[in-house]
Amino acid sequence: MKRQLKNLFASKQQKESAAAELSSDKIPQHVAIIMDGNGRWAKSHGLPRIAGHHSGMKTIKRITKAADRLGVKVLTLYAFSTENWKRPKEEVEFLMKLPQEFLSIELEELHENNVQVRMMGYKEDLPEHTLRAVEAAEERTKHNTGMVLNFALNYGSRKEMLNAFKEMAAAVQTGELQPDQITEELYEQHLLTRTLPDPDLLIRTSGELRISNFMMWQLAYSELWFTDVFWPAFTEEHFHEAIRGYQQRARRFGGL
Ligand code: IPE
Ligand code: IPE
Ligand code: MG
Repeated sequence: MKRQLKNLFASKQQKESAAAELSSDKIPQHVAIIMDGNGRWAKSHGLPRIAGHHSGMKTIKRITKAADRLGVKVLTLYAFSTENWKRPKEEVEFLMKLPQEFLSIELEELHENNVQVRMMGYKEDLPEHTLRAVEAAEERTKHNTGMVLNFALNYGSRKEMLNAFKEMAAAVQTGELQPDQITEELYEQHLLTRTLPDPDLLIRTSGELRISNFMMWQLAYSELWFTDVFWPAFTEEHFHEAIRGYQQRARRFGGL
């Protein structure tokens, strides 16, 4: 199978040339993306919505490669929200098959390139086949030390925050924790992102100007980049444009 795969990752020279046009000392460590507009992309091409989701998988490959080339440490991709279960059953079923399809094609090469695949979200509601594929990928790549490719799958920020409150409240009730010991750092240990830095850059495709229940605590000081381009049409050049935009921002974190 390996021989059929084109090299997903860049050679050293390619990495250097992609990095050359951007200042290499200001590459965001963590980029988070709300991959939106698959349905509208499909509609604009006279195709069913699921064709848009399928095409969006190719963008995942493209942008994973681009992010790795630039030296991004964590790439978080919002693939399915806790609210997306409201969609028609056929669409949800299709979306739940995509992780195994993507991973069956890409996992070996991701692994060879030292990428660590992770899932951020509520595993208990996923169909068995989806969970199996995701967990196998996590297991296979867990000792890798390169870029973290973090799929937000059945992820919702409100649920994440409520669970953190519940866990801390339970610890207060048993007397293990005093309310005044609840700090930002402790709270963050109860979030699904506990081992990750906050996103430096959030990108949302498709022209929607909202957060849609994505990483609401973690995005407090992220730079936001919105583009009208639909996710299936989002290219490496669009990604570089977002990084360039990021590099021109002055991040102050409340200071001067
Ligand atoms: C993003 O594309 C993928 C998911 C939310 C799963 P959409 O399916 O939301 O596409 P639009 O927004 O309807 O065009
Ligand atoms: C956000 O997109 C969720 C993902 C991209 C997975 P949606 O298409 O679900 O968001 P809304 O409904 O337009 O806010
Ligand atoms: Mg959408």
